[in-house]
Amino acid sequence: MRAAVIIPAAGSGTRTGLKTPKPFILLDGEPLVLHSLRVFQRHRAVALIQPVLPRDLLGTFRRRVLQRYPLNKCLPPVAGGRERQDSVFMGLKALPEDVEIVVVHDAARPFITAAVITRVIEAAARHGAALAAVPAQDTIKMRSRRGMVVETVDRSSLWQAQTPQAFRAGILREAHSRASSDGYRGTDDASLVERLGLPVRLVEGSSRNMKVTTPGDLALARALVRKQ
Ligand code: CTP
Ligand code: MG
Repeated sequence: MRAAVIIPAAGSGTRTGLKTPKPFILLDGEPLVLHSLRVFQRHRAVALIQPVLPRDLLGTFRRRVLQRYPLNKCLPPVAGGRERQDSVFMGLKALPEDVEIVVVHDAARPFITAAVITRVIEAAARHGAALAAVPAQDTIKMRSRRGMVVETVDRSSLWQAQTPQAFRAGILREAHSRASSDGYRGTDDASLVERLGLPVRLVEGSSRNMKVTTPGDLALARALVRKQ
């Protein structure tokens, strides 16, 4: 199976509150984006990695990441778009035609493991589309516009979506083209497949597979790295 991985890293990282662009924030002395790149570089099922960066950071990425670390599966970085969905679509268009499986994984999730990657790839090969997810931990309330509780939602069927998400290439291409021509905006790639009425499989993610969004997340990520 020839899998290609798209790494969306073209956000503005506004919520970190830092001047350093999020992909280059140092975690354990190395750029945040490198942490996940390395896990995909080592994974047997992965043939290609397509990083997507803000246009003005393509050179920085080449210098600080590609020239410093052995990442021979990486294609030259491409520029992203205004929203995450645009960035993934740009990465997808840059991939060779013959790729069978496409994995999408946010640069902002540095603690991805080979086991979770294997699970999403295998489930995508079998079902067409798959994502890593974890069961909702908190009690979830539905809130009215006036700030009152409408109901307590049954938590047992609620899962929090993560990346990686994996797809048969044709399905992801179709899902992105259709979303783009319909002007549809989803918050993850799986939702673009769901709206076509196609099956999407949930596989077990990991609570450690956190997303670095806020300064508090960064502090937590640094603590997790120290424990490793
Ligand atoms: N992303 C992207 N292109 C965009 C927006 C987001 O490639 N136009 C990527 C981010 O780089 C990140 C992932 O999508 O790896 C998840 O987005 P998020 O955590 O929201 O990161 P940012 O958008 O960079 O942060 P913020 O929303 O705080 O600005
Ligand atoms: Mg964002």
